[in-house]
Amino acid sequence: MAHKALYRKWRPERFEDLIGQDPIVTTLKNQIQSGQIAHAYLFTGTRGTGKTSTAKVFAKAVNCEKPEDNNPCNRCETCIGITEERIMDVMEIDAASNNGVENIREIRENVKYHPSKGTYKVYIIDEVHMLSQGAFNALLKTLEEPPAHVIFILATTEPRKIPATILSRCQRYDFKPVTIENIQKRLIFILKSMEIEFEEEALRIISVSAEGALRDALSILEQSVYWEDKRLSTQGVIDTLGIVPEEQLFLTVEALRKGELEQALEILETGGKQGKDVSHFTKDLILYLRKLLMAKVGVELEQFSTMPKDFLQRLKAQSQKLSGNWITKNLEALSELEGKMKWMGQPRILLEVFMVQVCSAQAPQGKAEGLEIKELAMRVQKLEGMLSGGRIPKNYERDTKEGIGDSKEPVLENTRPDKVTSFKNRTEETEKAKPMNPEPLNKTSEHNTGGSTPGTEKEEPSWDQEKIQQQWPDILQALKKEKKAQLEALLKEAEILGAYKGELILGFGKGFGFHREALDKKEKKTQIMEVIHRVTGKNIGLKFIMKGEELPRETKGDAEKKLTESLPKSLIEFRDD
Ligand SMILES: Nc1ncnc2c1ncn2[C@@H]1O[C@H](COP(=O)(O)OP(=O)(O)O)[C@@H](O)[C@H]1O
Ligand SMILES: [Mg+2]
Ligand SMILES: [Zn+2]
Repeated sequence: MAHKALYRKWRPERFEDLIGQDPIVTTLKNQIQSGQIAHAYLFTGTRGTGKTSTAKVFAKAVNCEKPEDNNPCNRCETCIGITEERIMDVMEIDAASNNGVENIREIRENVKYHPSKGTYKVYIIDEVHMLSQGAFNALLKTLEEPPAHVIFILATTEPRKIPATILSRCQRYDFKPVTIENIQKRLIFILKSMEIEFEEEALRIISVSAEGALRDALSILEQSVYWEDKRLSTQGVIDTLGIVPEEQLFLTVEALRKGELEQALEILETGGKQGKDVSHFTKDLILYLRKLLMAKVGVELEQFSTMPKDFLQRLKAQSQKLSGNWITKNLEALSELEGKMKWMGQPRILLEVFMVQVCSAQAPQGKAEGLEIKELAMRVQKLEGMLSGGRIPKNYERDTKEGIGDSKEPVLENTRPDKVTSFKNRTEETEKAKPMNPEPLNKTSEHNTGGSTPGTEKEEPSWDQEKIQQQWPDILQALKKEKKAQLEALLKEAEILGAYKGELILGFGKGFGFHREALDKKEKKTQIMEVIHRVTGKNIGLKFIMKGEELPRETKGDAEKKLTESLPKSLIEFRDD
């Protein structure tokens, strides 16, 4: 590569080049101005925020032959010598690899001698927390009686690992994570200076992904630019990162929170198109939810997170809109899901099912009876059908994107006839948290009325909500005939609201809670299901709810459990193939 590593090329040369560390810069410059320079400094902060850079600028500034406004001139012999690491007066020691007593003893020997060129000998000890106990003790001795011409600058990402005795002898400066905005500004400056064309979105992703570390931003930038064309594209960044920027996580949670399934799936889909790994995304989402939870319970995230302040603020605001319960529940579900993904050829479907579940639980009251729930139900059925089939239909991508009810039904490449549960089994299982709907996909689609999808029809009996609707009077009639008039009388008050996870959702109006309760018993359900089976030839589960009640809230307890419990089973089956 013809070019120098960007972070080297763009290493700050003057205090003014340091981004986002204004209070530190101001204080240091004032000290230089007044000549009140301390003998030991501790620079703390996450990686890539400018600790080493500041130390270098400072070392040059105090030694420069012709300082300009308390900045190093970067042109005199001393400045150049320091920049090129030729002058031994400024020593950079990496404590990670030189952490023994002997290394520090060497320094102690060395500090006695006056600087050869400049005014000060400056020792920059990077990753100082890595020093051994013995080394710290040796360092302490030097710090207790430092020669006038010596400055120590200790830099660390983990100040908590520094002995108090050392801390008490240092002036401490905490470097802040660089904000998204500042990173962006710096990148634009660099790109313009290098005459590299760029897409705004590419910049945004880099700035967010860098999580406050300007060095990281530069290295992402460096790997993403098409150097031959001098161009930075969004695709280039995504090729480099292969992970989800915080932005996408934020938006995903927004979508889930609002029950905007299409939105959530779209983000996932975009990520997929960009070649993002689903399990990576899941991991990131888990970490993000953890941060939300911490924010929710009032933990000051600044201590733990490398996220820039503006992003943290947004995250905090988001956490306020969520219940702790919502966060923990989904955190648990996702963690479980993450484990399962390792077993699965198509982990994306797991995440999609998760999203459907969360969104359906989130659907607003008014929509509970409407199309939304019906759509969600179809979506679940469809996804689960795929899972139970163990195959992803070829046109699945397009299908999910174009939405449910689309006439292009996915064609399963392999449905599993052995998965058709017997009626008896099904009845029992409906009561327990049972495995996923053995019925194939989306039989409730309006477009599908009357006919079923080619390729599934011969293997499994399928049912169609509208068809059942038509047959409903017959079913009631049959109940009556079979001397189950009481059941019929109760059931008559219910209205078919939709289908959910292979179950028919029957809603009762206000004041009919008693009816619902009376029917919502195992043996009653079994009796009704038997009749339904006789009339329609289909195995159909039943779910009774009160109208206006949020459907998923009602089904939530077991529906959700069902989802998570059913997944491993299907996976095991899938693996058995
Ligand atoms: N605050 C900052 N302002 C400008 N550039 C920075 C800043 N922080 C990091 N950089 C860029 O990242 C590179 C590495 O920064 P460095 O000072 O070594 O960070 P740290 O020592 O905190 O890990 C620098 O050469 C510079 O290009
Ligand atoms: Mg450093
Ligand atoms: Zn100079």
